[in-house]
Amino acid sequence: MPEHFAHREPQMEALKFCARPALQGGRPVNALCLGPPGTGKTTAIFKLFSEMEAESSKAVPVHVNCQMDHTRHAIFLRIYSKLLGHSPPASGVSFKRVLEKIARTMAKENRVIVVALDDVNYLFPEKEVDRVLYTLLRGHEAFPGFRAGVIAILSEPALNYVFDPRVSSVFQAEEVSFPLYSLKEIRDILARRATLGFYPGVVSEEIIARVSDLTERAGDLRVGIDLLKRAGMEAERRASRTISDEDVDRAYERSRLVHLSSALKPLREDELLLLGLAAEMESSKAGALYEKFQASTGSGYTRFHEILNKLDAARLIDTDFSGPGHRGRSRVVRIRYDPKEVLDRISQKRNPGAEAEDI
Ligand SMILES: Nc1ncnc2c1ncn2[C@@H]1O[C@H](COP(=O)(O)OP(=O)(O)OP(=O)(O)O)[C@@H](O)[C@H]1O
Ligand SMILES: [Mg+2]
Repeated sequence: MPEHFAHREPQMEALKFCARPALQGGRPVNALCLGPPGTGKTTAIFKLFSEMEAESSKAVPVHVNCQMDHTRHAIFLRIYSKLLGHSPPASGVSFKRVLEKIARTMAKENRVIVVALDDVNYLFPEKEVDRVLYTLLRGHEAFPGFRAGVIAILSEPALNYVFDPRVSSVFQAEEVSFPLYSLKEIRDILARRATLGFYPGVVSEEIIARVSDLTERAGDLRVGIDLLKRAGMEAERRASRTISDEDVDRAYERSRLVHLSSALKPLREDELLLLGLAAEMESSKAGALYEKFQASTGSGYTRFHEILNKLDAARLIDTDFSGPGHRGRSRVVRIRYDPKEVLDRISQKRNPGAEAEDI
């Protein structure tokens, strides 16, 4: 987490305004953070939460990475652990018991939870998000004492999910938008980070300018941070004390698709396999893809469908949900990146020895 979090003052103010009631144990205003990848949404939440924890013990902030915790049950176990300071008994606890215990603890201690659902698009498949929000925002009806505010974080505003009406009536959220950083802002942020990360003189102003240009083109600050790191490793490899233009260019090959690499990281073998098949076919009918998947793994349609949803939520593929048969085998599956880039990274992930530079 960067110590200096510049150029996000209005967003931080808006989020603090929403969270303020929670500091006195009141119910916070719900918020929805929207913006492209690498615009500081997660960082803003981490900053907000650490300030809240320093200021008050009434508000219990819970950060949920929906990519990891993508079911209502997992999310409430996360809340339980944060609120009670220990995990619930490992097996056989019903969801109702977990919720009861959470509500009782909140009522007794007059505390309120603020739940950040980061990358909430991972809850879109099977409409899990509706169940999560419904329970968070209407839980008090069945479980007195339960009080929660929600900050949903969504990185692809283009995805317009339509909430269940029973949810949209209670999830009225303050929108906080995170626009792309301007070139000037990118330069400023990267220069500061380079000062922290390198000895003086290693990174010249011209290099910062070059890296910033490439970052602006990619539109994701993460590319710039990754690029600085990799360019530094390139310079180190040739035992140079300064980073050259060529170091940056060589590093850019890997850094420009940093989002793709990080999306692949958590995938399991059968998920990689299906993604690989989709990349080989570029664009195909789900039915044809399923036949290949089934032939290689022996898995059934349910697992296939599940993975397809997951890859879609991770924005690795597009699946056409419109038109007749949208849940069926005729829907079209399209890879969202250059198939060769995807296949290269899949094989690198399978043989990590070949390129030992992913830190
Ligand atoms: N204003 C800033 N100053 C310094 N570093 C920043 C700033 N904004 C973002 N960063 C850094 O850029 C990287 C990406 O930021 P962050 O993870 O907050 O983006 P995000 O909007 O959550 O992206 P995504 O939608 O992909 O999850 C992080 O390493 C973060 O530390
Ligand atoms: Mg994020």
